[in-house]
Amino acid sequence: MINYKEKIAELIAPQIGELGKDEILDIIELPADSSMGDYAFPCFKPAKILRKAPPMIAKGIAEAIADAPIFEKVEQVNAYVNMFVSRDEFAGEIVKEVVAKDEDYGKSDMGQNRPVIVEYSSPNIAKPFHIGHIRSTVIGASIARIYDYLGFDVIRINHLGDYGTQFGKMIVAYRHWGNRQDVIDSPIKTLLEYYTRFHVEAEKDPSLEDEARATFTKLENGEKEETEIWQWFRDESLKEFNRVYDMLGIKYDSYAGESFYSDKMPRFVKELEDKGLMEEDDGAQLVRLDDYGLTPALITKSDGSTLYITRDIAAAVYRKETYNFYKNIYVVASQQNLHFQQWIKILELMGYEWAKDCVHVPFGLVSLEDGTMSTREGRVVFLEDVLNGAVDKTREIIKEKNPDASPEAVEEVAKAVGIGAVVFNELANYRIKDYVFSWEHVLNFEGETGPYVQYTHARACSVLRKAGEDTVAKAREGFDPSYLTGNSAHALSTLLYRFPDVIVEAGEKYEPSIVTRHIVDIAQAFNKFYHDEHILVDDEDERIAKVAMVLAARAAIRNGLDILCMKAPEKM
Ligand code: ARG
Repeated sequence: MINYKEKIAELIAPQIGELGKDEILDIIELPADSSMGDYAFPCFKPAKILRKAPPMIAKGIAEAIADAPIFEKVEQVNAYVNMFVSRDEFAGEIVKEVVAKDEDYGKSDMGQNRPVIVEYSSPNIAKPFHIGHIRSTVIGASIARIYDYLGFDVIRINHLGDYGTQFGKMIVAYRHWGNRQDVIDSPIKTLLEYYTRFHVEAEKDPSLEDEARATFTKLENGEKEETEIWQWFRDESLKEFNRVYDMLGIKYDSYAGESFYSDKMPRFVKELEDKGLMEEDDGAQLVRLDDYGLTPALITKSDGSTLYITRDIAAAVYRKETYNFYKNIYVVASQQNLHFQQWIKILELMGYEWAKDCVHVPFGLVSLEDGTMSTREGRVVFLEDVLNGAVDKTREIIKEKNPDASPEAVEEVAKAVGIGAVVFNELANYRIKDYVFSWEHVLNFEGETGPYVQYTHARACSVLRKAGEDTVAKAREGFDPSYLTGNSAHALSTLLYRFPDVIVEAGEKYEPSIVTRHIVDIAQAFNKFYHDEHILVDDEDERIAKVAMVLAARAAIRNGLDILCMKAPEKM
């Protein structure tokens, strides 16, 4: 496919010898308003270098390049050169390419199979897996998918919070007030109850705290009974997490969480001491980071037990040694910014030059319309309930719209659209923004929502069904692009053309919302094309060309949904 920007830079370069092609590429703009062309070249910077008025330079360039066959017209407007590409050639190139690549459109080999770790979700066992966790889960899953598309070898890790002093508390609570069946029936809710109960009882009887500490020490020493209970808590919780991951279609390569590193820590404690980074403070060991504007990081407590941060240091080194990652990405809430700054700095001070390849990708908070969540007060919305609720609501809407659909079909679409709606909503805004979860917004079929994009995809599928296999097969073979030069067709071609670059940008910025917004744009442009033009016209050549356009739009929307980890139902 022609790289239009490159081509334009090559045409402009001889006109301003003082600027290199890369500098020209940086100056070329994509005007938001199509009346200013498909590409524009502002002449302010060249004007400074050449010491001439910008409009004069623009005029010279416009005249010199106007005859190039890639353009329909080139205009000088004030300091700008506005370039309009030759629409039928453009549509021909792009639609042909998208249709041919189909499922692979948007993929590249830029990553050259280099290993990239994406760590996401990482819930704490026995703490509720609530709507707040959906952010890490969904943003991380989508970033992983983006890196798949870019040709990296992605390793998905769930760094479970399955270790720490809270397990001493839970075991104590279980022994005093628990029962086996409750844990089996509803592990996370039950373990959370134990945890809450422990705190209530410990207020009255502080000796419980000592008991919990002693129990955790036994766990750390690998004593049989404590280890068995802990393992059982972990297994039961994981079953529950997996139920949610299955609903979301999420898979992991590794569940090596905090406990996995419990026996790997002494090496790092010693290494920190040997490298003179550790300082003793009342029996505890810490690393001072004042020189870097950070608070000290506690590495071991006075009783010798390690901390969350110690386990992250061990985990990063383990990952480097095991996977030799090119990048190690952590999708974790912005509340943990300091934590990540601390340990990444510590790795750097330890002399690990690859510390720079550990990337914290933070995101903002979710709150509920009727107030924020509070684990302590038991005011939490469980992720599983949200997903089931979305499926239920969607089922109602679908039944209302299609009273005759079979129950199986309704069920399948309700799952794809209900869960997709929640996922899409997560990925619709810049990840760093806080937001308020609203059912009404999530399940809207009209606005810029998941159901809207999925519905547009289903509409494209329906057009293709109506067109018939024969026409679709012909469209795949070739078409006359001169039928695809209307404004709405051209706007759609332009968005399809940009799709691969959008994925690259989303990967570089760890920002799936860039893809989300682009597929909303494609869906809107497709719907406009659908309304403005008759697609299944009598004239065969025209019909084939337009069907090719529908095939291309459908492929891009489907691949976009795939990147967002959403299903693309063919009928809705
Ligand atoms: N389990 C932690 C939590 O729920 C998140 C873990 C983040 N990952 C990490 N490597 N520290 O808050």
